[in-house]
Amino acid sequence: MIKEILAKKIFQKDDLIKLLETEGEDKKLLFQKANEIKIGEVGKKVYYRGLIEFSNICSKSCYYCGIRKDNDNVNRFNLSDVEILSAAKFSHDNNYGSLVLQAGEIESAAFTIRIEKLLKEINKLSSGKLGITLSLGEQSEETYQRWFDAGAHRYLLRIESSNKELYRRIHPENKLHSFEKRNNCLENLQEIGYQTGTGVMIGLPFQKMEDLAEDLLFMKEMDVDMVGMGPYIEHPDTPLWKFKSELIPIQERFNLALKMIATLRILLKDINIAAATALQAIDPLGREKAVKIGANIIMPNITPGIYRNDYSLYENKPCVDEEPEECLHCLDVKIKLADAEIGYGEWGDSKHFFKRTKTEPKF
Ligand code: 5AD
Ligand code: FES
Repeated sequence: MIKEILAKKIFQKDDLIKLLETEGEDKKLLFQKANEIKIGEVGKKVYYRGLIEFSNICSKSCYYCGIRKDNDNVNRFNLSDVEILSAAKFSHDNNYGSLVLQAGEIESAAFTIRIEKLLKEINKLSSGKLGITLSLGEQSEETYQRWFDAGAHRYLLRIESSNKELYRRIHPENKLHSFEKRNNCLENLQEIGYQTGTGVMIGLPFQKMEDLAEDLLFMKEMDVDMVGMGPYIEHPDTPLWKFKSELIPIQERFNLALKMIATLRILLKDINIAAATALQAIDPLGREKAVKIGANIIMPNITPGIYRNDYSLYENKPCVDEEPEECLHCLDVKIKLADAEIGYGEWGDSKHFFKRTKTEPKF
């Protein structure tokens, strides 16, 4: 039965649901197939993106997120430009190939200019050799264009859930948290020419298996180049905490997240799939397990250690006491154990992007 589904070329929603529901031997078959497709389509290499979470100041108040504006228990920080550039240099010196700039969401002229300036500086310090991904939320089309022109070439913006009703239940109902705006932003990013990534949280309250299958179809429909998705992990200082008892157990969320990754690899064969940090919050080897069954991107945290504790989107965020140098060695060892190679110094861009746009990779 599962074998027949796995042999298909086109997958319907019901097929996806069945894959997401596999356990035991069937799940093994799913994972095997996903690994085969990954190796055949994008190869054995894992690419690193050094992740700089440079500020937890946020104008939004998503009901699931620990750094939401309305959480007064957060010690707000904002790295200086010098600190950000020194983290970028760390990425470059250690041959990471790329970095990700992520922060709480701010839309302002000053913020646009600050990022634009930083992008130019990062390009300068690495002689254009560091790939740059942004994960800075919803912005105007003009801002996205300016950042693209300044040297960013990938953008991550999770849709969180493709089900409009569910989206509404996990966000405040106002203009700042509009499902339509989020979709528009994704379209703008693609039009400008970014390698565009999205993603969802898995195991949210009120979420059904059908929603997750629809999420996968949404990613296909959008023709995305990259996906980062991970388990939802409840945070005590958020409005969704009160639904804690309705959640599926955390190990099951982890299991479901792995099945989502494997199923996505089978559905969208040549995209880049990140092993989300939230997987590591549940299982110390979570990201490496994801690499074995379809993921090919890891985003090691290179935020200076003193700030890490304050970027708590969810509980038990891993490695908050580590410095970037310590993470480096620890990760390399684990990746090699997962039977993968590390694409040092390469951008490791999405193969799908080049096929879609009929262009050639730069590095
Ligand atoms: N659990 C898991 N992921 C979360 N995010 C925010 N809060 C949580 C949480 N409680 C994810 C969102 C967001 C990304 C930066 O972090 O998907 O897009
Ligand atoms: Fe929206 Fe943090 S407040 S994801």
